[in-house]
Amino acid sequence: SMNIVILAAGQGKRMKSALPKVLQTLAGKPLLQHVLSTALALQGKASKNGPIVVVGHGAAEVKTFLANITKEDSAFSKVSTALQAEQKGTGHALLQALSKLDVQEPTLVLYGDVPLTSKKTLSKLEKLADGVRGKDCALALLTQNLANPTGYGRIVRDAEGSVQEIVEEKDATLAQKAIKEINTGIMVLPTNSLKKWLKALRSSNAQGEYYLTDVIAMAVKDGVPIRTAQADHEFETVGVNSRDQLAALERVHQLNIANQLMDAGVSLADPARIDVRGTLECGTDVFIDVGCVFEGAVTLASGTKVGPYCVIRNSVIGKEVAVQAYSHIDGAKVGNQSVIGPYARLRPGADLANDVHIGNFVEVKNSKIASNSKANHLAYVGDSIVGSRVNIGAGTITCNYDGVNKHKTIIEDDVFIGSDTQLVAPVRVGRGATLGAGTTLTKDAPANQLTISRAKQVSLPWKRPVKVEKKPVAKKATVKKVLAKKPASKSSKGKK
Ligand code: UD1
Ligand code: MG
Repeated sequence: SMNIVILAAGQGKRMKSALPKVLQTLAGKPLLQHVLSTALALQGKASKNGPIVVVGHGAAEVKTFLANITKEDSAFSKVSTALQAEQKGTGHALLQALSKLDVQEPTLVLYGDVPLTSKKTLSKLEKLADGVRGKDCALALLTQNLANPTGYGRIVRDAEGSVQEIVEEKDATLAQKAIKEINTGIMVLPTNSLKKWLKALRSSNAQGEYYLTDVIAMAVKDGVPIRTAQADHEFETVGVNSRDQLAALERVHQLNIANQLMDAGVSLADPARIDVRGTLECGTDVFIDVGCVFEGAVTLASGTKVGPYCVIRNSVIGKEVAVQAYSHIDGAKVGNQSVIGPYARLRPGADLANDVHIGNFVEVKNSKIASNSKANHLAYVGDSIVGSRVNIGAGTITCNYDGVNKHKTIIEDDVFIGSDTQLVAPVRVGRGATLGAGTTLTKDAPANQLTISRAKQVSLPWKRPVKVEKKPVAKKATVKKVLAKKPASKSSKGKK
């Protein structure tokens, strides 16, 4: 195992945001959370020391965020913070975490704003540093060859190709600026030596900062071997400084997810038009049309088709379901062969069995609906238990809320509910009952009977009032005035 320190004290000025940079989101998760998840996976469940986050700018917000994600997932309870009150450079940042490091283990340095480094790449770096030798390991640098290395620290090698030092852009000579190999900032260091090196850092450089990168030359002096490795993909080492960089990285990340889905047998109408902000698990032959957003944990079983512009969050969708255009599904369970939408809304606790049809402008919340039941148009079903083969007519509303409490509606098997019915809960509709259109049901409806509450229909003689046309005198006069004025103004212009 390794100590892992995540540098996250910087401000992120270019974001122009009230939010600390590391809390900006990529795929719906703060940048820092991506880094923490990878760090925790790398350390393994058995490891007792968790990642240490160096906080500074927005420290309070970052700590609140850490407390919140720990409530959601106890794995994050191992994360601790170290405060860097003033931002005096990357070396100074790491110094703040020094007392928390286990000197028997190597130390991996990550950045809170570099979210997509893979566990595979970091394991490779750990092995390269010969992590088994713990405090006496080599120094391993993750480097990258860039066509345009401007702004980055450059890896300076001697004639034999051995790394000699890292020179920051602002301190580099013209010859050094021509070097294409850059420091990604991610490195594994022998902790015992690191302690000594960090204390020896000086800020006599172009930026007046304590550069972590200065420890490389110290390692060379101390005879510590320095090795380098590259990530498989460039996006793994890309940092986020501005909103355009964040948006660009989001697209790269989403395209990677889309490719993974297609590799797993999912059909996407357009891999560039899907957003997965969480985990999307799909069976075989799932089809997803354009513009869909998946949030949290979503499962789509085999043969299911999702129409365009659907939002599906924390839901389990069964086999061969048709989710049609513009549907919104959150915290719901949908049974096999069901048809949802277009324009349907399933809210948390919607639990639909097989072959249930929920049509346009129907909202279902906290309700169990048994198989073969239908609510095809304009209805609200809340806090209900609905049996099998029930037909819920257009405009049906369960009146579940009395202003303080929520009440249950129970609709038994084979019920037919006429259009525009209100079921004032708590209320029960017995098996096989029919409710006449327009019924306001305030008492239980018995099984197998027609229940209807409706004012009796009457017909009366009637003479419809006739509209008397008013003479539009005043209107015509104003129109004339305007017309009369126009040539006058034209002629005044002409005089000039
Ligand atoms: C750093 C490296 C440079 C490398 C580049 C990669 C140094 C001296 N330079 O430069 O070689 O090519 O990253 O992107 O290390 N941070 C703190 N406290 C501080 C300063 C920074 O926590 O006092 C954190 C930032 O929040 C950020 C990371 O450290 O996550 C990097 O800081 P940044 O200012 O971006 O360093 P660069 O100048 O880009
Ligand atoms: Mg930077």
